[in-house]
Amino acid sequence: MKHSRLFTALQEGLQVEGPLHVLRPPAGYDLAGLTDVSVGAVFYPDHQYWSAMGLVGDGAGRAATLVVVPRSKTLARVMVNDAIAAGGLVIVDGQKTDGIESIYKDVRKVAQIKGVVTKGHGRLFWFQAGETPRWNTSITSPDGFITAPGVFSESKIDAGSTLLAPHVDALKGAVADLGAGWGYLSRVVLQSDAVTRLDMVEADKIALDCAAKNVPDPRATAHWDDALTYQGGPYDVVVSNPPFHTSRDGDPDLGRGFIATAARLLTPRGTFLMVANRHLPYESTLGAKFGRVEELDGSGAFKLFRATKPKR
Ligand SMILES: C[S@@+](CC[C@H](N)C(=O)[O-])C[C@H]1O[C@@H](n2cnc3c(N)ncnc32)[C@H](O)[C@@H]1O
Repeated sequence: MKHSRLFTALQEGLQVEGPLHVLRPPAGYDLAGLTDVSVGAVFYPDHQYWSAMGLVGDGAGRAATLVVVPRSKTLARVMVNDAIAAGGLVIVDGQKTDGIESIYKDVRKVAQIKGVVTKGHGRLFWFQAGETPRWNTSITSPDGFITAPGVFSESKIDAGSTLLAPHVDALKGAVADLGAGWGYLSRVVLQSDAVTRLDMVEADKIALDCAAKNVPDPRATAHWDDALTYQGGPYDVVVSNPPFHTSRDGDPDLGRGFIATAARLLTPRGTFLMVANRHLPYESTLGAKFGRVEELDGSGAFKLFRATKPKR
């Protein structure tokens, strides 16, 4: 069996003396048999995984923090800063494709690295918390919205959502926004007085907390949940700009799952409005889950579907 970088580091001299808190490990991340360990998870499916193992905690009283580097470079830096602020030993583990090498270079300028493991196209290193690297962790949120490092499209309104917006501003009845992010589309949906209720379903807790602030309307409710298993509705309309990849990989199955959820949650006369990257093959799933599918609009990069007559 191929050992993880963490397992190898523990074999080769990494000593964690006391409780270890792990920031944002994806489901299945190898905690190498560590016993005194807690996990901080903000992505709902990961949270469910670690919670089922009884490991979710806030890291109070920790002796060490392990940062599992995410794709977002700004978020990775914020997480390293948080780990340094918590004090004690800081361990950082990441893939080259997620920018671990530049994080390593920046940390090395301000801290003495105590150990390094490079393997599996990535690097794990550890050091004692001290000075914070001189890096910029600020983001520019789109005008009029609150966003946070690492949430989807943190600095600009997504072009797919912009394409969908003119089609969701005159809806009626009970509406769900699947993968609501920081709430851009949800706010547009609520421009219509005929919308009676809006459920924002989002897996990223940080994005959802932004959505709750960006959509301060009594008709809106934020649901921290997995859109694939979410139980709610029935809805007159479901809108979605579904994710086209999981935390790391391209994954049209996720979008297909969102389509199945929409069909499951709609009333028989309900409508699903979805924008998708033009290259993703969603037509057959839409055709399997809905009696009628139209392409309403499109651009070079995106296509916009309206699907009705959901099949159970
Ligand atoms: C393409 S973004 C759209 C965000 C938002 N609607 C907008 O217009 O800016 C897709 C969103 O789905 C969320 N997401 C990913 N997997 C999810 C899941 N399993 N359940 C719910 N939301 C998920 C992502 O965190 C992301 O915010």
